[in-house]
Amino acid sequence: MQELAYFNGRFCDPAEATISINDRGFQYADSVYEVVVAFGAQPFCLAEHLARLQRSLELIDLDITPHNINFEAIVREGIERAGFDRTMIYIQVTRGVQPRAHVYADDLVPTVIATFRPKPVIDPAMRANGVSVVTVDDTRRAHCEAKATSLLPNILAIKKAKREGFHDAVFVSPSGQVREATSSNIFAVCGPALLTPARSSSILHGITRKYILQCAKRIEVPLDQSPLTVSKLESADEVFLSSSVLDILPVTRVNDKTIADGKPGPLTTRLHKCFLEGLPV
Ligand code: PDD
Repeated sequence: MQELAYFNGRFCDPAEATISINDRGFQYADSVYEVVVAFGAQPFCLAEHLARLQRSLELIDLDITPHNINFEAIVREGIERAGFDRTMIYIQVTRGVQPRAHVYADDLVPTVIATFRPKPVIDPAMRANGVSVVTVDDTRRAHCEAKATSLLPNILAIKKAKREGFHDAVFVSPSGQVREATSSNIFAVCGPALLTPARSSSILHGITRKYILQCAKRIEVPLDQSPLTVSKLESADEVFLSSSVLDILPVTRVNDKTIADGKPGPLTTRLHKCFLEGLPV
């Protein structure tokens, strides 16, 4: 008996099931999954697992109804084809294949994968003697300073922003401190000073951000080290985003507030000029 895979409509050897490098599951962790075990031909609590899968799909805004995917039929057929006494089934649904872009298209065809393997046998000594555990800080979904590919919160935030008529979304901490946009850092100009959230584990330490701070020093713009709150951002004289792709991009509206006169401000323009002057060509 061999391990079995299901890949977009057909059963195959797992070695034959390869996904595109442009699959959003690979690029952004833009996917959800479920694990079910089966005893003989009987999947255990299948309805509950499929209900949770449906809930996970809804939570990531992935509507698979147009694609008529019958997970129950896939699971039952896979168990029968694989023929194990006890089967461990992983089901994964990604948003599909799209050239890399944070904002997902609405008409993608989801990638549907399942694997059928023997359910691992838990060492009887572990059951007899018990096992040990260690407590750790819950840092799941933390460490934004790592340029990790688990960007699901980012892509959901920018999609929601687009739907609501904004260019991008800016993440704010539970205490109201501005962190960064979905794929860029953020700056505000308040009076004469430049503000940007301090380096912490809550933001990516942007290379462009660092370079802009050097430009600011060179042209003698004072820095304000105080936290950037939402109200400060909304009432700032100028706001801009920074990233390798954008370099400096002015922001003229934050929520329902127009920034100053709704046009890119003078310091943003000066900093951008200084930025461009430092480019290799
Ligand atoms: N994004 N913050 C986040 C969450 C980012 O993804 C990025 C970069 C930045 C700016 O970093 P840098 O200045 O080093 O590019 C800040 C890239 C452009 C992207 O994901 O496409």
